[in-house]
Amino acid sequence: MGLCSHLSSAPPSSSFSMHAFILLWCFGLFLTFMVGRNNETDRLALLDFKGKISKDLLGVMSSWNDSIHFCQWKEIGRLHRLRVLQLNNNTINETIPSNLSSCANLILFHATINNLVGEIPTKLGTLSKLQILAIHKNSLTGIIPSSFGNLSSLKGLSIAYNNLGGSIPDSFGQLTKLKVFAVASNRLFGTIPLSFFNISSITKIDVGVNQIRGHLPLDIGITLPSLEIFFISNNQFIGSIPISISSASNLHILNLSGNKLTGKVPSLEKLNSVRLFSITENQLGNGGANDLTFLCSLSNATNLRDLEINTNNFGGELPKCIGNISTTLTFFYLNKNKISGNIPSVIGNLINLEDIEMWNNKFSGDNNLQGSIHSSLSQRQNLITFHLPRNNLSGIISSQVIDLSFSLNSLDLSGNQFTGVLPMEIGNLKNLEDLDISENMLFGKIPASLASCVKLEFSAMRRNFFQGFVPSSWESLRGLEHLDLSNNNFSGMIPKLLESFDFLKLLNLSYNHFEGEVPTNGVFKNASATSIKGNGKLCRGIPKFQLPNYNNKKSMKRKLTLTLMSVYKGILDQYKHTVAIKVLNLGCHGASKSFKAECEALRNIRHRNLVKVLTVCSGFDYQGHDFKALAYKFMGNGNLDEWLHPTPRKINEAFEKQRKLSLLQRLNIAIDVASALDYLHHHCETPIVHCDLKPSNVLLDDEMIGHVSYFELARILHDIVHDSSTNQSSSIGVKGMVGYTSPEYGMGNKVSIYGDVYSYDILLLEMFTGKKPIDNSFHDCLNLHDFVMQRRHVEAESITHKYYNSSTKPKFYKNTRLIGKIIEKTSLANFYSKTHVT
Ligand SMILES: *[C@@H]1O[C@H](CO)[C@@H](O)[C@H](O)[C@H]1NC(C)=O
Ligand SMILES: *[C@@H]1O[C@H](CO)[C@@H](O)[C@H](O)[C@H]1NC(C)=O
Ligand SMILES: *[C@@H]1O[C@H](CO)[C@@H](O)[C@H](O)[C@H]1NC(C)=O
Ligand SMILES: *[C@@H]1O[C@H](CO)[C@@H](O)[C@H](O)[C@H]1NC(C)=O
Ligand SMILES: *[C@@H]1O[C@H](CO)[C@@H](O)[C@H](O)[C@H]1NC(C)=O
Ligand SMILES: *[C@@H]1O[C@H](CO)[C@@H](O)[C@H](O)[C@H]1NC(C)=O
Ligand SMILES: *[C@@H]1O[C@H](CO)[C@@H](O)[C@H](O)[C@H]1NC(C)=O
Ligand SMILES: *[C@@H]1O[C@H](CO)[C@@H](O)[C@H](O)[C@H]1NC(C)=O
Ligand SMILES: *[C@@H]1O[C@H](CO)[C@@H](O)[C@H](O)[C@H]1NC(C)=O
Ligand SMILES: *[C@@H]1O[C@H](CO)[C@@H](O)[C@H](O)[C@H]1NC(C)=O
Ligand SMILES: *[C@@H]1O[C@H](CO)[C@@H](O)[C@H](O)[C@H]1NC(C)=O
Ligand SMILES: *[C@@H]1O[C@H](CO)[C@@H](O)[C@H](O)[C@H]1NC(C)=O
Repeated sequence: MGLCSHLSSAPPSSSFSMHAFILLWCFGLFLTFMVGRNNETDRLALLDFKGKISKDLLGVMSSWNDSIHFCQWKEIGRLHRLRVLQLNNNTINETIPSNLSSCANLILFHATINNLVGEIPTKLGTLSKLQILAIHKNSLTGIIPSSFGNLSSLKGLSIAYNNLGGSIPDSFGQLTKLKVFAVASNRLFGTIPLSFFNISSITKIDVGVNQIRGHLPLDIGITLPSLEIFFISNNQFIGSIPISISSASNLHILNLSGNKLTGKVPSLEKLNSVRLFSITENQLGNGGANDLTFLCSLSNATNLRDLEINTNNFGGELPKCIGNISTTLTFFYLNKNKISGNIPSVIGNLINLEDIEMWNNKFSGDNNLQGSIHSSLSQRQNLITFHLPRNNLSGIISSQVIDLSFSLNSLDLSGNQFTGVLPMEIGNLKNLEDLDISENMLFGKIPASLASCVKLEFSAMRRNFFQGFVPSSWESLRGLEHLDLSNNNFSGMIPKLLESFDFLKLLNLSYNHFEGEVPTNGVFKNASATSIKGNGKLCRGIPKFQLPNYNNKKSMKRKLTLTLMSVYKGILDQYKHTVAIKVLNLGCHGASKSFKAECEALRNIRHRNLVKVLTVCSGFDYQGHDFKALAYKFMGNGNLDEWLHPTPRKINEAFEKQRKLSLLQRLNIAIDVASALDYLHHHCETPIVHCDLKPSNVLLDDEMIGHVSYFELARILHDIVHDSSTNQSSSIGVKGMVGYTSPEYGMGNKVSIYGDVYSYDILLLEMFTGKKPIDNSFHDCLNLHDFVMQRRHVEAESITHKYYNSSTKPKFYKNTRLIGKIIEKTSLANFYSKTHVT
């Protein structure tokens, strides 16, 4: 073996990772050296190694010089005293050199996880001192040499995960010291020689995933008393599980899955150490009454974690003794059998179950889910999966059953005979990812609480009798990838909100009573991902659906009504007083965003001069469009704009007279507004910019106290500041009304509290001049601000600065002293003194 075989093929990077580890005992020298991946490091290391060898009697290292590449330096076959050779975890892609057999003292050869190719040299069978041969996870071909039967010292043989064919040589019965035998995942066939089962020292047999056939010897548990791991899964074993297996009482892991075993499973009563018992995918059981009694024999297996008897021929009832199985049981698979009768309530004793699979059986009986299981199941706080599909379960799904476990992430009750409604407790399953209740006889509305299952990815409810609209609260179920509502009695518009479910790959709404327009975005763009067949009254949608283009007159009218809305007056029972309801403009892009901003802003703020939001409504209109509204406390005296500029429509004699604000009222309102702004700017957790301060947004209650309202454009300053780094902030959403908006905004400056101050300036001017910011009477003047500036005969100095610095007083302010008081009363003063708003 040239050194290059285990050095040079490594990538020349990461020189620190110790790559090959060679421990040598030769020529009386005990040496350890490590070779890194780097070529030069390899070379130097080898030279260093050579330097430490004082007597190279055979001249083995004469070739280790600079005139040839270090890859061609010779070695190993002549290292007669080599005892340990570890080359594991490299990228060696050569054959195993047969002259390794010359290393007659070799005790351990470890070359796992490489890319060794070719056949295993027969000559290695002469290594009579070899105790451990580990060459698993390579690409070896050929057969297991029968000469290995001569490895008389062999304790461990691991050649799993290769491409070896042939059978296990008869000679292996001679390996009387063998403890570990692992040949899994090859292409071995034939039978295991009977003599092999005579090796009483064996603790681990792993022959899984091959094509080995034959019976298990009847006395296996007696001849292999030390057996701890017995892995024969995915082979062709036939016959029954020997009764003697129970005598191998050290067994921890018993995986007999994927064979053709038949008959009755014997008692396992002595297997007290067993952790994993899998007989999945055999033909065990007779479909009869006593098939499952072996489960009772496991009650002393106090470490049992996995019990997998699924996909067999087991019949009869699930014995009550399963309640005596160790509480360590975590995975219990019974599915795909013919188990009938009730599910015993004692199953609830298994408090550590994470996954129980019972589907495809014949479990039956009314109320078994609501009656017997529930109380105990609900204590299983670890239960992650609960699968009972395709049984014969009937009765209702009781709330207790649904309330199985907070940690439940998969619930499958499909293909049974459940009836009744889906309990609202479904919303308690906050970790639910998969929900399948298809093919039952459930009816009623889907509880809105399902919206709490925000992790839901897969939801199938097909073939039931569910009815009603799809609840608007489903907005929170944006993680859905698969939604199958087909074959139910759902009605109403197809909720447009599904358009925004970005992960949705399958949406099946077929065979319901959905009507109206089919949305066209998101999943609806893809006719193969969306099924809408059998709904009758649908229209529009993408052309592929070939739906009529007409639009329902009714919904047109409603749409119109909606767009006409603005602020409504209503009565909320809950609050027993009149409210103002503000419907957000739904057609307007970003309304939802605005709603969120508004809710967010409103959630934490409370001030006597801010309009109090009583409640928020979020739902769907008739068309399935988002419907969002805010209910404010109703303000008896309307808004300030109506008082400053009474519209002709509203004027009647009596009213007109009333509708005049005294100077004192104006002043008080101005103070109210200033106080509100001051609060928003300086006393909220994050500063809030109103962005749209104007008289119509100042509401007056019965006592003429001003309340600032409508944070529709409100910006949380924090976000703005944050956003500004993205360079997009400059003019985002500055939609304040012309005239009140600071000119800086128009020039693309960031939203800031200074903008509100500007608007407040204008508001003050408007309140005391009675002129609108853009008034026809301002002939040449552009606006109120300029108008005032002109009248003041004062040049480029801040108007607000002037309020504060009362030495120059605009003449039209009859009572500048009072104005000054406004400023003093609020911390705006402090603010103004620091800023110049021009
Ligand atoms: C280096 O080793 C090669 C191969 O054994 C040999 O032919 C050559 O003479 C050696 N060179 C020196 C300088 O020892
Ligand atoms: C093998 O090497 C890989 C990566 O170099 C490392 O992650 C892994 O732990 C190693 N395995 C063994 C058994 O040394
Ligand atoms: C081993 O890998 C090297 C480098 O990738 C390649 O040149 C060589 O052909 C490979 N040898 C075998 C036997 O696959
Ligand atoms: C080792 O094997 C190679 C080729 O397989 C051969 O050339 C060499 O002479 C052998 N060395 C010894 C010491 O047997
Ligand atoms: C085992 O060793 C004996 C004695 O050296 C030999 O006669 C026999 O052929 C070997 N068996 C195999 C299968 O190589
Ligand atoms: C197994 O061992 C027993 C007793 O040691 C012996 O009688 C029997 O022949 C052996 N079976 C095989 C197949 O080697
Ligand atoms: C049993 O072995 C098969 C195949 O080797 C494997 O797929 C399965 O996961 C094993 N069962 C358990 C419970 O580990
Ligand atoms: C469990 O162990 C007890 C005490 O050793 C014994 O009496 C009982 O029969 C055992 N049960 C089973 C099912 O083996
Ligand atoms: C469960 O174990 C208890 C105590 O060991 C025993 O009394 C009871 O009969 C067992 N139940 C079943 C169904 O085996
Ligand atoms: C299903 O259960 C009903 C009664 O609950 C029973 O009449 C029927 O035979 C059962 N069907 C099967 C296939 O077990
Ligand atoms: C389905 O809904 C329609 C009305 O949309 C109703 O008349 C009918 O009774 C419902 N059918 C069931 C099985 O609930
Ligand atoms: C949708 O549901 C119907 C009725 O259940 C079914 O026939 C159809 O195959 C389903 N379509 C898709 C894409 O799953």
